[in-house]
Amino acid sequence: MIDKADTKPLGKDGEKIPVIGLGTWKMGGSFHPDHSKDEQWINAIQSFCNLSIKKLGQALIDTAEMYGAGHTEELVRDAIKSFERDALFIITKVSASHLRKDQIFTSARKSRERLQVDQIDLYLIHWPNQAVPLKETMKAMEKLVKEGIVRHIGVSNFGIGLLEEARSYLNSVDIVLNQVKYSLMDRAPERALLPYCQREGITLMAYTPLELGRLCKNRYLNEVGKKLGKSPVQIALNWLICKEKVVTIVKSEKKKHQEENLRALGWRLDQKIYEEISHHFK
Ligand SMILES: NC(=O)c1ccc[n+]([C@@H]2O[C@H](COP(=O)([O-])OP(=O)(O)OC[C@H]3O[C@@H](n4cnc5c(N)ncnc54)[C@H](OP(=O)(O)O)[C@@H]3O)[C@@H](O)[C@H]2O)c1
Repeated sequence: MIDKADTKPLGKDGEKIPVIGLGTWKMGGSFHPDHSKDEQWINAIQSFCNLSIKKLGQALIDTAEMYGAGHTEELVRDAIKSFERDALFIITKVSASHLRKDQIFTSARKSRERLQVDQIDLYLIHWPNQAVPLKETMKAMEKLVKEGIVRHIGVSNFGIGLLEEARSYLNSVDIVLNQVKYSLMDRAPERALLPYCQREGITLMAYTPLELGRLCKNRYLNEVGKKLGKSPVQIALNWLICKEKVVTIVKSEKKKHQEENLRALGWRLDQKIYEEISHHFK
């Protein structure tokens, strides 16, 4: 079934979030802080916010404490200063090495400080860590909501087994979103995870939707796009957001790319073409 809305409810029936957000990996460094292009990165985040707010009334930004060892969150802080807080949906993540109760609280508080927000809209466990009991982690995540440090909690890179186990430790809140790698070229979530999320009312956020840019030059998508007056990127992104419960994040520093990506909104692939594309990449 093709989903035509450009904002979708978070989790079961939560607030609406944009179906395309901005990824920030490598803005501000990878595993260490990089200050060499701060102005350019801040401009890029601001440019995306402007474009997305103009189109949808809001902008979604995905970051993590790990990105640039915290510096990416500082860039997000500098970029979002001039926007209404209500128009932004900020996601950040706790690293797998910080999943003990006390570490989670320290990480969340530090992220909140670096971002200079009262509350983190959505806080994700970046990767699971078998060395830490999941029960301890989830109880701490739930407490972050109770204490108002974060508004919602979710996970990233969790399969169904872990997702179910994580949910079983929660009493007053549920996991609203699972962020996983998903693209036309990487269909792993379709086997079981996506149907599970759709059934359970968990948003599936697709990361690396353009395969780091590889899909932009795909010959088949180029052919399909030509017939529809769309670019390969727009077809690849639209194919994802057509799916119930699926939203995505694209990393893009270039305004031209951001504009192109957001033009994947406002229309949907016709069912027949959608199925042909799905089949072609299988
Ligand atoms: N939870 C996790 O474990 C996890 C793992 C990986 C990623 N993520 C998140 O997901 C986000 C997105 O994934 P990603 O960064 O891995 O890959 P991606 O979004 O698939 O690809 C990013 C690359 O595509 C290029 N690009 C974007 N729009 C384009 C366009 N219209 N035309 C041509 N090239 C375009 C970008 O170039 P320019 O910058 O030059 O525009 C960049 O080089 C990350 O930034 C991060 O926030 C999460």
